[in-house]
Amino acid sequence: MHQDGDSDRINIAIDGPAGAGKSTVARKVAEQLGFIYIDTGAMYRAVTLSALRKSIQPQDRDKLAALAATLEIEMLPGENGQTVLVNGEDVTEHIRSREVTLVVSLVAANETVRTILGNMQRRLAERKGVVMDGRDIGSHVLPNAELKVFLTASVQERANRRFKEIAGTQSVTLEQLAQEIAERDRLDEQREIAPLICASDAIVMDSTAMTIQEVVAAIVKLSRTKLAEAK
Ligand code: DC
Repeated sequence: MHQDGDSDRINIAIDGPAGAGKSTVARKVAEQLGFIYIDTGAMYRAVTLSALRKSIQPQDRDKLAALAATLEIEMLPGENGQTVLVNGEDVTEHIRSREVTLVVSLVAANETVRTILGNMQRRLAERKGVVMDGRDIGSHVLPNAELKVFLTASVQERANRRFKEIAGTQSVTLEQLAQEIAERDRLDEQREIAPLICASDAIVMDSTAMTIQEVVAAIVKLSRTKLAEAK
């Protein structure tokens, strides 16, 4: 029972490996509930883009940490999800490039980067009513989130989806994508700090054979139950 009038809002954490459909699902769930959607992967991508532009190696811990401390990252609700600004510049498109995708897991392994971004994420969720997607939201960033979903799908299915998504825009084969996704999973699962892990109280959803609509409907239903419980 909440004493602070927040009982019509809860926090929802959606974690899982790359390409499981987290961002599409999280955005639609937020829309249906009137909540704010926050894509935490975009924050790691924003730091990565800034590092690449400054020729800072993702493995250079100290330089990366110093850089992250100087970045003002803003997440604004946009037409297709959210607009990401870094020090005032709109980098929404740039952070999705292949160059960024290939090294973002290395940047995300940096302890200081994780501390800075994790604190930003907690501040964004303070007033509740957020749907936050990432890797460590339920396990680390928002351990008290009222609803935690761990969304997964087979590597092959995730590669298929990515392949369709980028159709024709990048010269990469389905096999290459499957390999890259598996490698990103490995790095995210094996890093020392806040690795990709299913929180013990998360609900696991395997979306391999589910449509986006089915996943969204299932999460919205669970959210409504949690909202009723919170009243
Ligand atoms: O969800 P995404 O593919 O945009 O995430 C990019 C990378 O950021 C991903 O490889 C792992 C990392 N990440 C993370 O470590 N913790 C999060 N909460 C979100 C993303």
